[in-house]
Amino acid sequence: MKDKVRKAVFPAAGLGTRFLPATKALPKEMLALVDKPLIQYGVEEAIAAGCEQIIIVTGRNKAEIEDHFDISFELEQLLEKRGKTELLAMTRQISHMARIAYVRQKEAMGLGHAVLMARDLVGDEPFAVILPDDIIEAGVPCLQQMIEVFEQTQSSILATQVVDGPSISSYGVLDCVPVEGSPRVFDVKGLVEKPKPEDAPSRNAIIGRYILTPRIFDVLEKTPLGAGGELQLTDGIKGLLAHEKVYGYSFDGLRFDAGDKFGMLKATVEFALNHRELGTVFREYLKSLSL
Ligand code: G1P
Repeated sequence: MKDKVRKAVFPAAGLGTRFLPATKALPKEMLALVDKPLIQYGVEEAIAAGCEQIIIVTGRNKAEIEDHFDISFELEQLLEKRGKTELLAMTRQISHMARIAYVRQKEAMGLGHAVLMARDLVGDEPFAVILPDDIIEAGVPCLQQMIEVFEQTQSSILATQVVDGPSISSYGVLDCVPVEGSPRVFDVKGLVEKPKPEDAPSRNAIIGRYILTPRIFDVLEKTPLGAGGELQLTDGIKGLLAHEKVYGYSFDGLRFDAGDKFGMLKATVEFALNHRELGTVFREYLKSLSL
């Protein structure tokens, strides 16, 4: 029987230094994109792709994430009393949307280390990793597109997008060749975390969606610390290549780096324009600006 991707891991222990001062006391995953915290977009994407269990890797000062997905008794009572039925339904839906388990990453030792913290909760099955500050707007959710490729290959799949110019150094970068007959799929030969622009093996950057086979855990255990003195997921996946095939997948969709101030602004404009209640007035407002 073929393996299914049932669990999605959300590394959410980072300090969010790129978004200070907003993230001094607020987890960056709780920053609102229009009217929803970033992490909720990712959780909704995982559920839409068929994941049944969400695993959030948190750290100190991240209690708001757990509160957000919990029942808010006082708020529900108040909304009920005031007859705000739509808001009440929406609030309730958030606390019922998924089975969520939390595990703590006690030290900021990198993305690979965060994923390793989820080992016991994931067990011996393939799983997804979603980086909550990478927001992807797509007709078919990005993770679902990737699961379709996983179902064919039963191999690890990394979301990728072309990044031009020196900002390639902010990413993990693939050394890869296209797979014949599958225009969006790449055979990964190597990976480098945050290379200097002149050392980047391609312009194919890793974006924050991964499907990984459980062998990644054994490999990560043995992976030495890499860029920034941290245990890098990219280095772990490079180690995985010695045992298994890994594919890159150039997803169909728009990606925003909402962990960055400018990226968040761009995402805000895009999501506000498409918002059910705000879209029309916001468009009118933008048109009225004499820039
Ligand atoms: C992480 C990964 C990197 C990936 C990026 C995508 O980096 O380490 O390989 O390209 O996410 O957003 P970070 O943004 O945490 O520095």
